[in-house]
Amino acid sequence: MVSIKSEEEIELLRESNLLVGMTLGEIAKHIRPGITTLELDRIAEAFIRSHGAVPGFLNYDGYPYTLCISLNEVVVHGLPSEKCILKEGDIVSVDCGTLKNGFYGDSAYTFEVGKVSDEMHELLETTKESLYKGIEKAVAGMRVGDIGYAVQSYCEARGYAVVRELVGHGVGRDMHEEPPVPNYGRRGQGVLLKEGMVIAIEPMIARGERYVYLDDDGWSVRTRDGKPCAHFEHTIAIRKGKADILSSFEYVERVLEQLH
Ligand code: MF3
Ligand code: CO
Repeated sequence: MVSIKSEEEIELLRESNLLVGMTLGEIAKHIRPGITTLELDRIAEAFIRSHGAVPGFLNYDGYPYTLCISLNEVVVHGLPSEKCILKEGDIVSVDCGTLKNGFYGDSAYTFEVGKVSDEMHELLETTKESLYKGIEKAVAGMRVGDIGYAVQSYCEARGYAVVRELVGHGVGRDMHEEPPVPNYGRRGQGVLLKEGMVIAIEPMIARGERYVYLDDDGWSVRTRDGKPCAHFEHTIAIRKGKADILSSFEYVERVLEQLH
C-alpha cells in the first residue's frame, strides 16, 4: 500500500527535508582537500541536533553514522572515517537523513573536491540533470516506470550506466516506504502516481558499467569496474501538473557559488 499524505503531513515532511538541505549546505562549506569524512559526519550530526531533529540514518538498520559519504567508485552507503581524507579531484556523494516531528527527510548531493577532471564534472552534471528529468515525470497520473524511463533514457543516451540494485522509495514516518522507485523502467508501467504521495528519487549513475558489489565493511556499495559513480536525491510530493520538491539544493548551491 502506498500512503497518501495530508497537507499537514506534507508540511512536516517539508520541514524535515529542508533541514536536510540546510545540513548539506553546512557540509558544502567544509568540503575541501584534507578534511576527513568523519569530521563532516560530526558537523552534520551537531547541526541536525541543534535544529531540534535527530539524524535519520543513525541506528537505522544498525547504520552507525549520520551521513553516508561515498567517494569516487563508492556508489552509496560509504562509512565516514578518520582515515578517509578528501583530496583534490575526488567526487564525494553526501547522503543525509533527518527525523523531525516524526517525519523523515532524505536527500543527497555529489560534490567536487577542489578542481576535478572534465569527465568527473560531466558525470555530476548528467546525474543531477537526470534527477530533474525524473522529477518532471513525477506528477499525478503518471506511473513509477515513467520516472525510471526518464532517468535511464537521459543517462544511457549520453553513455552512462544506471545502477539497478538500489532504488528510490516512498518517504514518511518511515524512511523507506512503498513504492520502490527504480532509476530504470518502462513508460506507462508500475505504480500509478497520485497527489499526496511522497517519494525520494535518487539516481546513482556510473561512468563505466552498472554492476556493483558490497564491500567487506558490510555497507559501502562499490562499482565492480572501479569507475566513478555519482548520486543525487530529492524527496518530492506528487501533485497535479508539477512535483513539489520538499528537499532543497538551494543552500548547497548558494555556498558553492560563493566559493567559485
Ligand atoms: N539515504 C539512503 C536512501 O536514500 C538510506 C541510507 S541507508 C542507512 O535510501 F542505513 F544509512 F540509513
Ligand atoms: Co533515499
